[in-house]
Amino acid sequence: MCDFVDIDINGSTYQLPVVNGIYSNNKAINISKLVENTGFITFDPGFKNTGITKSSISFIDGEKGKLLYRGYPIEQIIEKCSFIETCYLILNGDIPNSKQLEFFSQKIKKFNFLHPKFYEIINQIPNFYHPMGFLSFLTHIMTAFTKSNLIEGNDIYIDLLSKFPLLVALIYRKKIGIPPILSDTNIYYTSNLLKMFFSVSNKLYHHNPIIEDALDKLLILHADHEQNCSTTTVRLLGSAHVGLFSSISSGINALWGKRHGGANQAVIEMLEIMLQNGSNINKWINKAKNKKDPFRLMGFGHRIYKNFDPRAVIAKKVAEKLIDKLGIHDPILELAKKLEETALQDSYFQEKKLYPNIDFYSGIIYQSIGIPKEMFTVMFALGRLPGWIAHWREMKKNNDPIGRPRQIYIGYKKRNIDKSN
Ligand code: ACO
Repeated sequence: MCDFVDIDINGSTYQLPVVNGIYSNNKAINISKLVENTGFITFDPGFKNTGITKSSISFIDGEKGKLLYRGYPIEQIIEKCSFIETCYLILNGDIPNSKQLEFFSQKIKKFNFLHPKFYEIINQIPNFYHPMGFLSFLTHIMTAFTKSNLIEGNDIYIDLLSKFPLLVALIYRKKIGIPPILSDTNIYYTSNLLKMFFSVSNKLYHHNPIIEDALDKLLILHADHEQNCSTTTVRLLGSAHVGLFSSISSGINALWGKRHGGANQAVIEMLEIMLQNGSNINKWINKAKNKKDPFRLMGFGHRIYKNFDPRAVIAKKVAEKLIDKLGIHDPILELAKKLEETALQDSYFQEKKLYPNIDFYSGIIYQSIGIPKEMFTVMFALGRLPGWIAHWREMKKNNDPIGRPRQIYIGYKKRNIDKSN
């Protein structure tokens, strides 16, 4: 572990402090005084080499394919915790004991209702609007329907966690054209979510523990992922002292993009097209490798994972188990597995270290559950919510400075307006 590094700029040596993380391979050069001392800024499009904060929520070792939430490996959390326990862990720093869990769960139930205006407002929006647009909008306007004493207090996080599944179910039912139903606070979070989706009036709703378990696991896999694009968006807005609901509403918009959470919808759409066109895998692999073709293999590649994405490994197992237990024959899963196998043997994907990411298998799980494609990224947002909230709170607690990058200007040099001709 070193405390300083020397850099040489045009013959002058500058000593820059090193910021060390808990692991020896996680270290940064503190350049916060660089421009002041040298006149240079750093240039790092896409923040590929830039650490923006110190954080203690999750840790990724991209070379080894490891993911920890508050120090616990994702594989252990999947085995031993529910999504609600994971929310507690991410928000409060440790696994709750039974008393803490009961208190937390009861508190979530306390806020499990929506202002009646939400039901009116959602009906004013055209049905063709994408569910992620609905979710961002409804999250944003929560500020208008929340008492200011709640907004200022700690319960605001619980309020959001509690209301989010109601918003998600409301959007789903609006999209398929059936009226919303009330939340059932007597049952577990994920069971209630599924009931709010699939319960039909006049028919007794039957819980399916296999589906509930698969969905709960998928939510856990999405719960946090350090400084990804949407989380950074949430933190960036928060750093300007924008409120929680508006910051998260913007995070939802960032997640919507196909290069980020929107990839889960894009993966299934891609697999369906491949299936319709005769499943010629090599043709698609070659298309993805062709630099003149904008096509990319959706669900492949990750900024940080350069070995494998541990979430994708778990999601694949969850998908296989779910499909097996439900007795479904899913040609999409078969195609996905073949595509993965072929890509992993291809030198282009090997050299560029491109592996399946979480989005490669998550859509197959949602589809088996009966959730439509357009809702996939909304489900991702539901899972990511505890992470976004935890990062927003951490940013506030640390009093991080306002996020404001620099640029290299390549436009016109100063010139004068001449209207003489
Ligand atoms: N298919 C084909 N080639 C790819 C793919 C892909 N899926 N992903 C990356 N590459 C290639 C790029 O063309 C580039 O090649 P080059 O060096 O010859 O120019 C190289 O691999 C590096 O790719 P970048 O885009 O520079 O890597 P970056 O870290 O910026 O992007 C990203 C990562 C956005 C995930 C990218 O791999 C991608 O677009 N994947 C497909 C979309 C996707 O699955 N997104 C979900 C990510 S996980 C999540 O957000 C939850």
